[in-house]
Amino acid sequence: MPLIDARALTKTYTMGDQTVHALRGVSLTIEKGAFVAIMGASGSGKSTLMNILGCLDLPTSGQYRLADEAVETMAADQLASIRNRRIGFVFQQFNLLPRTSALENVELPMVYAGIRSAQRREKAMIALQKVGLGERFHHTPSELSGGQQQRVAIARALVNNPQLILADEPTGALDSQTSEDIMRLLTDLNAQGMTVVLVTHESDIAAWARRKIVFRDGHIVEDVSQDRAEGGNWGQIPIQDADLVGGHNAHTKLDSDPNFHPLPAEARSA
Ligand SMILES: Nc1ncnc2c1ncn2[C@@H]1O[C@H](COP(=O)(O)OP(=O)(O)O)[C@@H](O)[C@H]1O
Ligand SMILES: [Mg+2]
Repeated sequence: MPLIDARALTKTYTMGDQTVHALRGVSLTIEKGAFVAIMGASGSGKSTLMNILGCLDLPTSGQYRLADEAVETMAADQLASIRNRRIGFVFQQFNLLPRTSALENVELPMVYAGIRSAQRREKAMIALQKVGLGERFHHTPSELSGGQQQRVAIARALVNNPQLILADEPTGALDSQTSEDIMRLLTDLNAQGMTVVLVTHESDIAAWARRKIVFRDGHIVEDVSQDRAEGGNWGQIPIQDADLVGGHNAHTKLDSDPNFHPLPAEARSA
């Protein structure tokens, strides 16, 4: 059973009399333990797909099963619960709370999960040690470099022990040396069994992954794998991307969900 099983996903945004077909029938499966890079031009649908895979948004039509649970039929509270249990998110802009210590930032998802404060603190310390920030517990974001801030964000993503890390352009705001450090960290987490799906514009970042999926205009146009031990040559995988399929599911934007996880509005707009 794959961890991610998405079939004929479409996503249509309607703004006034304008309709945007962000996804036009995307099918893909991702196995447990995979390390996948999603590429494609700006506006090709990458973030839309990540939001659906992350149970932050529902498709307009199509089916999505995460760890064999049917997501597209879930209510908002069930989606919040599946996000809490299974998924860690990493964003380009780190999305840390300002004037708040690394430890408290990492504790945040556990506050939502209802974990006691002593246990929160202990788990947050372990997660920060895991990303190499054992000496920076009490630093606030402005006292940390960009790479260190992204490490805090990764520790926060890890702290509920998710099966899946979804990272939307995690190195987009970092210089190339720091990007490499972050990719090494994601590679280590993947080697420990975590499934990693990341979006990137840069092929040298995608080269860290073992599978590369390329989007164009709401479709998958390329799906290739490489065995890094064999020197990084990408080999074709048959594309499952379906033709545009009709029909409508719920068309709900879940950002207004009061259980929105992992971040309160203050952090997302920071
Ligand atoms: N909330 C939204 N409302 C309306 N249009 C949107 C929304 N989010 C994305 N889009 C549109 O959907 C298309 C795909 O966007 P997106 O998934 O963000 O692309 P990418 O991440 O590949 O740059 C774009 O045309 C974008 O303008
Ligand atoms: Mg995007």
